[in-house]
This record gives sequence, C-alpha cells and structure tokens, in this order.
Amino acid sequence: MKNVKCRILIAAIAAVAACVPRIAAQTSPTSGRERLLMDFGWHFALGHPFDPQKDFGHGTVGFFFAKAGYGDGPASLNFDDRAWRSLNLPHDWAVELPFDRNASANHGFKAIGRNFPQSSVGWYRKVFTIPAADLGRRITIEFDGVYRDSVVWVNGHYLGNEHSGYSSFRYDVTDYLNYGGSNVVAVRVDATVEEGWFYEGAGIYRHVWLTKTAPLHVAPYGTFVTSEVAGAAATVTARVAVDNQGSNGATFDIEESIVDGDGKTVATGQVRRATLGGGDSGEFSSTMKIPSAKLWSIETPHLHKLLTTIRSAGAVVDRYQTTFGIRTLRFDSTQGFFLNGKRVELKGTNNHQDHAGVGSAIPDSLQEFRIARLKEMGSNALRCSHNPPTPELLDVCDRLGMVVIDEHRMMGNTPEILDQLNRLILRDRNHPSVIVWSMGNEEWAMEGRETGARITASMQAFAKRLDPTRRATVAISGGWGAGSSTTVDVAGYNYKNNGDIDKQHAAFPNQPGIATEEVAATSTRGIYIDDRPAAHLRAYDWKPSNWGSGIEDSWLFYSARQFVSGMFVWSGFDYRGEPTPFGWPAVNSQFGVLDMCGFFKDHAYYLQSWWMEKPMVHLLPHWNWPGKEGQEIDVWAYSNADEVELLLDGQSLGRRPMKRNSHLEWKVKYRPGTLRARGYRDGKEIASDTVATAGAPASIQLVSHRDRIAADGEAVSMIAVRVNDAQGRMAPTAGNEIAFALAGPGKIIGVGNGDPGSHEAERYVESSSSMAIPNWRWKALEGTSKAETAPEFDDSAWQRPPGAGRGGGGNQPAGAGGVYRGSFDMPEMAGNATLSLLLRSVGDEQTVYVNGREVASKVRRDSAGHEFALDRSLLRPGKNVVAIVATVLSGGRGQEQRQGGGGSIGSLRVTVLAGAWKRSVFNGLAQVIVQSTQVPGEIVLTATSPGLSRGELKIRTVPAELRPAVPVN
Ligand code: GAL
Repeated sequence: MKNVKCRILIAAIAAVAACVPRIAAQTSPTSGRERLLMDFGWHFALGHPFDPQKDFGHGTVGFFFAKAGYGDGPASLNFDDRAWRSLNLPHDWAVELPFDRNASANHGFKAIGRNFPQSSVGWYRKVFTIPAADLGRRITIEFDGVYRDSVVWVNGHYLGNEHSGYSSFRYDVTDYLNYGGSNVVAVRVDATVEEGWFYEGAGIYRHVWLTKTAPLHVAPYGTFVTSEVAGAAATVTARVAVDNQGSNGATFDIEESIVDGDGKTVATGQVRRATLGGGDSGEFSSTMKIPSAKLWSIETPHLHKLLTTIRSAGAVVDRYQTTFGIRTLRFDSTQGFFLNGKRVELKGTNNHQDHAGVGSAIPDSLQEFRIARLKEMGSNALRCSHNPPTPELLDVCDRLGMVVIDEHRMMGNTPEILDQLNRLILRDRNHPSVIVWSMGNEEWAMEGRETGARITASMQAFAKRLDPTRRATVAISGGWGAGSSTTVDVAGYNYKNNGDIDKQHAAFPNQPGIATEEVAATSTRGIYIDDRPAAHLRAYDWKPSNWGSGIEDSWLFYSARQFVSGMFVWSGFDYRGEPTPFGWPAVNSQFGVLDMCGFFKDHAYYLQSWWMEKPMVHLLPHWNWPGKEGQEIDVWAYSNADEVELLLDGQSLGRRPMKRNSHLEWKVKYRPGTLRARGYRDGKEIASDTVATAGAPASIQLVSHRDRIAADGEAVSMIAVRVNDAQGRMAPTAGNEIAFALAGPGKIIGVGNGDPGSHEAERYVESSSSMAIPNWRWKALEGTSKAETAPEFDDSAWQRPPGAGRGGGGNQPAGAGGVYRGSFDMPEMAGNATLSLLLRSVGDEQTVYVNGREVASKVRRDSAGHEFALDRSLLRPGKNVVAIVATVLSGGRGQEQRQGGGGSIGSLRVTVLAGAWKRSVFNGLAQVIVQSTQVPGEIVLTATSPGLSRGELKIRTVPAELRPAVPVN
C-alpha cells in the first residue's frame, strides 16, 4: 500500500550502483534486496476520461470499485492488450500529439486537456513474472512520478490513486502477486487537468521500479545521513529506520560502513542486538568518525556511500546503499550562502522538466547532458521549478556539482499536501546537492496575507522535523513586508520589480535571501530583428516585461548585494508552453538562456562571461545581412577580458575597456566580411571570437556530444545538426529540412530545433488502435462447415458463443467446437497502415476465414493467442466477416480467458507505421537524440537534404553492465 507513514523508498540510491547483469532479475534470492528497473516492455493505449466505449469498457462492470480484484476493462487481469502499442518507459504521450490552436497555451498547444478527451487519458499495462521462490519476500512497485492522477491495479486489484504528477509513490504488492506465474500491472493516467501553467507532459514519464526485500529490511527512504565537519575531520551520523514486516519478533545487528569515491572504507559503525517486534518499525543510529574527510563541493563533488547491512540469525537479510556527501551549509542574512565555510555566489537557473524531442520523458543521460550544459555556462545552482524533481536529476547534480533548490508543489498543511512534502524530503534529504527546501512558488492567494504567514510557518516547522539540517524558502512575488515574507526562513525573491528587496532586508535583517527568480527575458536563438508573426524575438539584452529585467541589469543588481545568495535566472532552458508574450502560433516559452535543445542563446554567453573565470569573448549578431549593406548594425561583445577590440576585415574599430558585469557595443556599417573581437588582459590577448559572412548552405554536419555510449537501451547521444556553407561555416539563417536515417543498434527518440514557433513533429512513432469485433455468433459443428464461412451466410439465428462474457454462455459448455462468426466495418486506413486480426483459441485446432477466404488452416491451440496480418486484398469496403471453424477446446476457455481474452474471441489492430524522421534546422541548427539498444555495435546516422552534401556520424555502443531489470515477458 502507499506508505502514508512516509518513509518510502530511497531505492533510487540503492539501485544506482548495483551493477548486476539483467539476468540477475531471473534469479531470486530468498532474502536480501533486489531493485529492478521496470521500464521495459509496457503496452500503451489512449483511453477516454468519460466515454466508457473509448476507455475500453473501464468502469462499467459491477463491483469494479467496490470489491477487491474486480478492476474492469484494462484494469482486469484478463484484458487483451495485444492491439496496444509496445514501448519502454520513460514515456510522454503529450509530446507525440499534434499542436492545435484550441489547446492550452500553457501546455504548448499540444492537443491534450479538456478540449481533447480522446488524447487525455492513457493506459499502461505490463505483464511480469514473479518466481515462486519470492514467496515470503516483501515486493513493492515504485513510481518515480506519473503525470498525473494515476490509478494502479495489480492482477485486477485496485491499489491506489496518486493525484500528483510529480511526487514519487509506491505500493506494497506482496499479498496480491501470483508467485511462480505471471502478473499484470495496469495504470490509468488522466492528464486532462493541468497542475501548473507550463508544459507538464503526460504518462509514466519517469522510471518504475520493482523492489524485493526480506520481511526485515531498511524502510523505504529509511536512511538519513548527516555530518558535522571540524577541520579535516567529519563526524557522520547514520540514522536507519528498519521495518520488520514479519509476524515474529526479530533480533538483528546493523553494520554500517562508509566508502569514499575511491572505494576505500573510511569509517565503520554498528548497532548490536537491536530488536523489533513482528510488524514493528524502529530507528537506530550510529556515529562514525572520518579523520580526513573529502568534502562535497561544486568544484569537487566527492560522494560517499553508506553501506548498511542487517544481519539476523547469522544471515545477511538486507544490504542497503545510501549515497551522500559531506559538506556544511549556511545561509547568512548579511553575506549570503556558504558551502564548507566559503561564500558561494549562487549562479542559478530555474528549469522545468522538458526537452526538445522527448518532452518530460527525459532519459537519465539526457538529464546529465542538461546539467552539463548549464555548468558550461558557469551555472552552479538549479531550482526545480515548480515541483518535486525526478530523483535521477538529483543524482546527476550530486555527481556533477550543482546545488539545488528542491521544490514542493502547492502550499498548504492538509494531510494530502503534507504527505507530498514528507515524501519529497524523506526521499531527497541525503542528496548533498540539495541546499534548501522550497515550500512553494508565487502563492498569490496567500503570499501577502496572514494565511501565507501561517502556512509558511507550519510547513517550515514540518520540514524542519524531517530534516533539521536545511532551511526552507518560499518563492514570493508580492506582498513583501506581510504574509509569507514575515515568517519565511530564507526569503525567496521572485523579481526585483515585484517589491523592494532592500526594504525587506532592512525590515527583516536576520532573514537571509535568494533571488529565486529573475530576468524572464524573452529571446530567440539566432534572431536579431523581431519577427513577431513568427514568434521570434531579438537576442540582444532588453527589458522584456514589467516584472522581468534585462540579464545584465539583473546580475548587476544582485552581484552588488552580498546579503542575497545569488540569482536564479528564469529560465535555464526554454520549455514548451507559456509562450509569453505571444499566443498561437507560438508554442514554446523563450525565457531560456538556452533553447529547447540546449543550444546557447546570446544571454548564456553574457552569463558565461561573468559566471566563469575562463577567458572568453562572444560576438553578436551573425554577419549575414544581405540588403543592409551600408546600414549600421549593433555589434555587441560579451567578455570577461579587461579590454576588447573589434576588427572588421582586420581593421580596428576601436579597443574599449570592459566594465565588470557589463558588455560592449559598437555600431558597424554592414558589409559582407569578417568581424573579430579580441579580448585583452594586462595587454595580452586572452580570447577572441569571429563571425564571418557565411555563403549559401552547402553541407550538413553532425556533431555528437558522445561518440561512445553504453549499449544498455537507455543511454543517449545528443547530436547537433549544423548546416554549413562551402567553407564549413555555419549558415546562421539556414532553415533546410533534413531527413534522418539510422542503421545499427540504436534508435532516434526525438528531434527538435529550438524554434518557439515551429509546429513540426518531434517524434515519429508507430501508432496502433484496436477495433473490437463485438458480436460473435456461434453454431455447433454439424458436418461440413464451408458454407457457414461465406460472408453472406445468414447467422441471425445463431447463439452467442459459449462462455462469451457474463451470462452469455448459451446452453453450451465453454469450449464447445463449432463455427464462430464475427464482423467488422472496414476501418479508415492511411496508406502506410496495416491491419491484423488478433484471435484467442476457441478450439484445440481452428481454421480462420476472412470474407470466405482462408487465412490460416488448422492452427493449434495457443494460450498466447493468434495474430494474422490481413492483406488489403482480403478486405472490402463496409462489412467484413471473420469465420472460425474450430474443434472442441479441451478443458474449456478458462486458460485463454485468463491470458487476456476475457469474453472476447477476437479483435483487430490497425497499425500506422512511424513516418521517416525529419526536422528543419532553425538558424542553422537542429538536434537529434539517438538512444542505444542493448546490442553493442556501431550506429550510423545519416542526414540528407536536397542540394546539401549529406552528413554522416558514427556512434559506438559499447558493452555495458545492465541495470537489473524486470524481464520483458
Ligand atoms: C513567474 C513564475 C514562473 C514563470 C515566470 C515567467 O511568475 O513563477 O513559473 O511563469 O513567471 O516570467
């Protein structure tokens, strides 16, 4: 059951380092812990929020929500999902939908929501085997996050309903499983309603895990590691919550060891002869000293592992791994944020979970790509706006050195809301990257009121009880001096234009602060003249709105105020939805300093110049302005040099001193040529940048962020697609459409180009839909049957087939031999669509006819059913008839029904094959995301476009130890 008591998993952590080949999933230790990735081999179909016909009959059978085990439609054990699409998680179906002007701007005009019931509910099903040897273990299904309003059934049993699209949740399914046989988990996801005001995706867009433990085990989210640092030494306290789900009392030892990043054990501890009664839980703690501790920091993110072993009656019953970091934190009301005793200016960005091509279904290695891009810009901090992140994002931040504001959703202190906060904190409190909990964002209805003051105080107190090591913030946008801002522990300032930050600081001198949001400047990559109909806005630095500010203006303001712990730019990456200041046809936000693909916009270079030490110069705009010869163009340089000199075709246009946190501007009369900016420090050139007039697009270049990736079916390589001129210079205004083809052990999972107004498809996927054949008729076999298979044969006097659904069995025993007839209307089929007939065995042997023509002869009984591809030449417009001539089914239809047939004998699947992958470059660039399969080898990606020489790229997929996973049945 969902553990409202709260200490849910931590298993994210435990699984990360487990490196057992996938075969390990099939062996079943009777004790000890296994954490299996449950991402592979799901079936998916769109359902419907209110039309039961389109929701596979769900919610129509009596007792479905009253009695255990009566889940109906796809929730039932027997449902036939063979017509559904097969896919792996993570999956976001919203990103696959078309854009529609009647859809919500918030969600990027994807055809989902109240106006689109046919694409707002998704069903997922997965069949999995549980070995007989698992009987006696505790088994839990854990969801890192599902968007949203998910209901889960196992073997037809209702488990629970999680409303949040962002919180992790779990169900203990031990008592529901079929040991030594197959099981099915069904998840209904209703994404009709928006939680936020930005693109949120739809579906099981994060990982799913199956965890098995002994009855005596470390509780979910059960460890909490804290440390005190004194000089070089650290004192580490490990608190471990243990659950004894056995019926007898247990006596056990807890052994702790701390292993550093080099694999060296640096401290050990133990608790001897602990006891817990049957069904009891308890917390135990050990304190360990590390004489010389490697601290976790942004520059050197040293991680440690706490290995917890529980031993009982001489045997190891659980091993549990907690990744943590040793560091100190402090928010100071006059000097800002301190990490390990050193002031750190937080150079942050706000981000939603959304990337070009894949939407919210972000593979772990893409999370890493995104954080690495932000670090390349000099960013050291990230705010998970405005929801609990996936735990794997925090793993990446721990590993790469990026501090995090970990944000809860809606503020409040009801049991439901506090349960979500509880799960967030218990799940995430061991991550060294997390430096502060955010209770919420811009709660307009309460932030300036007494309600805000009270709820902020009570949520903070709640958080403090779960984690005394961190403080809490609220991102506030108004009512300064009242409401939340009077009780918040660390003030979160959302936009300096929304209030007087200096006044707040003067009124609350002991209150530290963070600029939780600032800038909100809209700009389009590679655009230097507004083109509003196309939703393109110039990428020079300009004041964007009444609440936002220019990027330089913002940074100048905060870098001059030590008491504010830095600035979090709204936003790091562009995201779908919130297409401010536009509506349709704009579909994406363009607040990002990076675009949807992670390509830098010019704002990113401004930040890089003052957020990084590394010498740099960046020039804007590009230098392709045909028709503007002789006109003045604004040329800007971002640089951290002391002086910058601009040259046009080698001729100096002036050398100017650079003011700290600023930029330089020139007006240059345009003529085709080469602009060069040279940065000097102490008189010496330390960096330069060149922009040259590019010729016509001539070739395609593919550049991968990784040319070797793990052959694990999860890793991705992010590929930049560039259109170049004949000299290999990027053509900065090119918009050529590029077609992609891939050979070898990989697949393309998404394409994008960062254009906020583009309506091109981002995924090309196969789609399938099922058509019921509802009205089967049956007649016992008498002599020859051929005549009864003819399409025109009159079967109106025949009976319903034996055993077909509730009360439909007629007088005949289930499994009686005979002729079965069903009909369907020819569906509308696109040119590349195929039709398959999916049947259940109705006899030990059966011969199948469509419109009187034999499609299969004497097919033996198979509990998995039969599938026949129907050639179009067999079909006719209007009514088509399927006839099955079957011998007796010995033993009846029980087996076939259990395997997924229910009362249904057959149905049809219409499959529309995926279109060929393509995408236009936008201002010279696009992105392709390539994912490995589990086969090592060489992927070859080719890119072609009329008139351009083709691009080709090879990526090696290298043998990798697979994460233990639930096998695909
Ligand atoms: C803020 C809000 C963000 C985003 C931003 C755009 O008010 O917290 O989620 O909407 O405005 O400027």
